[in-house]
Amino acid sequence: MASPTPSTEYKVLIASANPLFRKGLEKMVLGRYGESTVLRATTATHETLDVMESWQPNLVIVDYDDKSISRAEFLQQFVTGDLPMQVMLVSLQASGAVVVYDRRTLTPAQAQDWLSSPQFPPNPPHSDIQPARRKSSMKHYVFAGVLVLILTILVDMLLSVSRLLPVQASLQAQPIDRLFDIEIIAISFLFSLIVVFIFYSMVVFRRRKGQEEDGAYFKSNNPLEVIWTIIPLGAVIGLSYFGAITLGQTRQAEPAPVEIKVVAGQWFWRFEYPEYGIVSDKMYMPVDKQAKLTLTSLDVIHSFWVPEFRVKQDLLPGENLVRELRITPTLIGEYKVRCAEMCGTSHAYMESPVIVVSQADFDAWVQGELAAIGTDPVARGERWAKNNGCQSCHSVDGTPNVGPTWQGLFGKTVELMDGTTAVVDETYLLNAITNPNMQVQVGATANVMPQTYKDSISAEQISDIIAFIKSLQ
Ligand code: CUA
Repeated sequence: MASPTPSTEYKVLIASANPLFRKGLEKMVLGRYGESTVLRATTATHETLDVMESWQPNLVIVDYDDKSISRAEFLQQFVTGDLPMQVMLVSLQASGAVVVYDRRTLTPAQAQDWLSSPQFPPNPPHSDIQPARRKSSMKHYVFAGVLVLILTILVDMLLSVSRLLPVQASLQAQPIDRLFDIEIIAISFLFSLIVVFIFYSMVVFRRRKGQEEDGAYFKSNNPLEVIWTIIPLGAVIGLSYFGAITLGQTRQAEPAPVEIKVVAGQWFWRFEYPEYGIVSDKMYMPVDKQAKLTLTSLDVIHSFWVPEFRVKQDLLPGENLVRELRITPTLIGEYKVRCAEMCGTSHAYMESPVIVVSQADFDAWVQGELAAIGTDPVARGERWAKNNGCQSCHSVDGTPNVGPTWQGLFGKTVELMDGTTAVVDETYLLNAITNPNMQVQVGATANVMPQTYKDSISAEQISDIIAFIKSLQ
């Protein structure tokens, strides 16, 4: 039996990403050791080290100039590692003690020579750098840690004094602001952690003159990976817990609140006080008394937001999609509700005053409103027009706007899209409000006037609005 036993095999591993380098060496190795040679090639440091360990080659030839093969890693292995195999480092660069042969000038004779008697680097000049760094790494962590702490405190102070939030004017704002405080500390810490480590590494571990070798190769760090998974997981669970507690606190209902029905439409706010039969375009609230807001929309999604109260709620169109919000104002003053959901061309101007007053002033306002409703249909019509946002499209003084001005409108003859003309009288105006697409004026656009008024404004109020338009001569 002539088959070679494994012990007569000569295993050679060539580590280089350069295919020409590999081909040339493979030829020479086969010429030197003949048929019983087994060749393997690798192209990266960790792969090479893995194969060296598992395959146990007799000879390893490393392309010492290859950037994907870490010099530092190999030097470490040669100096400290207990390698049973022969290892050769081949370099193109003529400087340094690690040069075995110059690949550019390698002759066949030289190749034969180093294949039979490989030289090992007696004392590589770079190998002493790594252990020295490891010993002092604790010092770097402590120093960077102190910098992170200092920067965290500074950033938190800066964010706290820069008043990111307006004045706190409701009971519900208190737990929300507490949550904000926690999040601002977390933000300051994370910002500092990232920025300090980046700048510290850039300055302290910068490449100095004459340092040409690659950095050390790290495969993994299990403790570090466990830490950076557990800590963010804990932070997210903790913030969810605080968030849920805070949401619960902002929804706590008190007995006998002031009931306010908030109606939003393109583009106005209307506030109804069913207890008193008052409808207003301003929201009045007594201080230190909880208000229960029920919110609904006539057309698209709007969002009720008074920044000083912190809480925010979307208003959705549809009878069964009424939402609720609890607000206990704690500070007398005038604020503004703004729409926080893009809802069309005038979204940016969808603002209304929110006025927090003492209980006595609130009662006086209620009495005043009830008296003002009065008996004059023109005065009432003006109120209903205001409460329903009519003036956001129709001026009462002749100013051009989205819709025709109401000044001098009554009694006018208008041209219609179908080619006919019509005189603006009570019937025309009633149709224009309740069924706006029936008679569209020349120069106007269909579907701009909402189709919802016949349901959202009572017949008596529409008749008052017509009386008001009639008065604007
Ligand atoms: Cu309503 Cu934006």
